[in-house]
Amino acid sequence: MGRWSRKIAAKFVDWVAAPSQADWLEIGCGTGALTQAVLSATAPRSILATDQSADFVAHAEAQITDERASFKVADAANLPCADASLDVVTSALVFNFIPDKQAALAEMRRVLRPGGLVAFYVWDYPGRGMGFIDAFWKAAAEIDPDALELDESARFPFCTESGLAKLCRDGGASFTEIAAIEVETRFPDFDAFWHPFTLGAGPAPGYVKSLSADRVHQLKDNLAGKLGKSGPVVLPARAWAAKARWLVE
Ligand SMILES: C[S@@+](CC[C@H](N)C(=O)[O-])C[C@H]1O[C@@H](n2cnc3c(N)ncnc32)[C@H](O)[C@@H]1O
Repeated sequence: MGRWSRKIAAKFVDWVAAPSQADWLEIGCGTGALTQAVLSATAPRSILATDQSADFVAHAEAQITDERASFKVADAANLPCADASLDVVTSALVFNFIPDKQAALAEMRRVLRPGGLVAFYVWDYPGRGMGFIDAFWKAAAEIDPDALELDESARFPFCTESGLAKLCRDGGASFTEIAAIEVETRFPDFDAFWHPFTLGAGPAPGYVKSLSADRVHQLKDNLAGKLGKSGPVVLPARAWAAKARWLVE
């Protein structure tokens, strides 16, 4: 997933078009795909990259040595920043995991300076915008209807244009802009496409791990029949992105 999150982070940062010399906060930095994109493209004054996972924070910190970046373990519900201290508060591919989204948005807004910007994005699972995930679950459901319960499109119904717009509206945003951002996911052949599904981490690989060897072959054959056994596999990966501002009171 890291390859695609780096590609989409670069496009998202272009779309956000934040001013240079801004102070940024990132929630759920993971391995630092968006952190790096902000540093490379926006000339920030600073970026504090946070994640609830100490392992991810340590990994991102080891990779990114830019002195404008700092790193901290923190949950979206309790940001380690003073009120009204930041220009842009952002997150990439995180909001679908946050149980109380409205509380997280209020916390993002708390740390924003007047006129500041909240900007974030999530994969478009419900719109079947994640082509390679969608192909996987469609093929799995044909041989095991129970697999549908694990499909991200059912687990993350919030990840739609209207879901993001409603979150911002309910959070009292004065101006909201929502956009679809798409990148191409390209695998040189079917084996390269299939390999990540055998690595065990995440819902689809976890599902593969739970199957008997026969069922794995059945699923792999079904997918290969749909995508082609030779030649590149090229599918879209689409995210919904939101920008929100609040009128200065
Ligand atoms: C799918 S990863 C995305 C990582 C990175 N932003 C990217 O674009 O590659 C989701 C990240 O959100 C973090 N996360 C999930 N819930 C969180 C929460 N409530 N507060 C802070 N981080 C959270 C996870 O630890 C994980 O690193």
